[in-house]
Amino acid sequence: MTELEYLGHSAFAIRDSGKEILIDPFLSDNPKAPASASEVHPDLILVTHAHHDHLGDALELSKRFGCPVLSVSEINDYLEERGAKVIPGNIGGEIELPFCWVKIFPAVHSSSFEDGRYGGAPCSFLVRMGGKTVFHAGDTALFKDLSLVADEADIRAALLPVGGTYTMGLNDAVSAMRLLRARVMVPMHYDTWPSIAVERWALESAARAGEFSVKVLAPGERLVL
Ligand code: NI
Ligand code: MN
Repeated sequence: MTELEYLGHSAFAIRDSGKEILIDPFLSDNPKAPASASEVHPDLILVTHAHHDHLGDALELSKRFGCPVLSVSEINDYLEERGAKVIPGNIGGEIELPFCWVKIFPAVHSSSFEDGRYGGAPCSFLVRMGGKTVFHAGDTALFKDLSLVADEADIRAALLPVGGTYTMGLNDAVSAMRLLRARVMVPMHYDTWPSIAVERWALESAARAGEFSVKVLAPGERLVL
């Protein structure tokens, strides 16, 4: 059984057979992180870009659990210099671990660390675990090459930013779903702060586009894929 847990903002855990992948683990300073965030036990951490609301606790978690981080080269280097374990990778790359497969795709956004250091190109992740495929779009605008991700796999759940302002908003996320041909949209990157507020009814009405369902997860809520 492959399970997805929403940890607030753009943070998710994917678990199967006792293994856990954490994506964009922004937990300590995340006003929407559920209490259960302290219960994470990652075997792999994926980071889409260097902005603090995505890099989050990646360094501390990697050190605490001795688990590797996979991201683009600039983020890997930054974390490795500070004592994290990393898996070499960059956009276009694929990694195969005993419990999962990950391919790194581009995102249209920007990326820098809080100290101003360049974070490399932002990315997104296609993850297969327990036979189920999940796409985490990172922070991105709508762009046509998302259809290349759909050519790669039958996507069960697409985790898409919907808050607008810094990323695509809900209408563009609906268009992204058509490019991705995914079955379920899980909205992320909204309501963490007032600048990315989205009404619940608006999220639910997005499902009226017809070809897919929308699963709105509250922080701490889980979805069996
Ligand atoms: Ni960002
Ligand atoms: Mn962000």
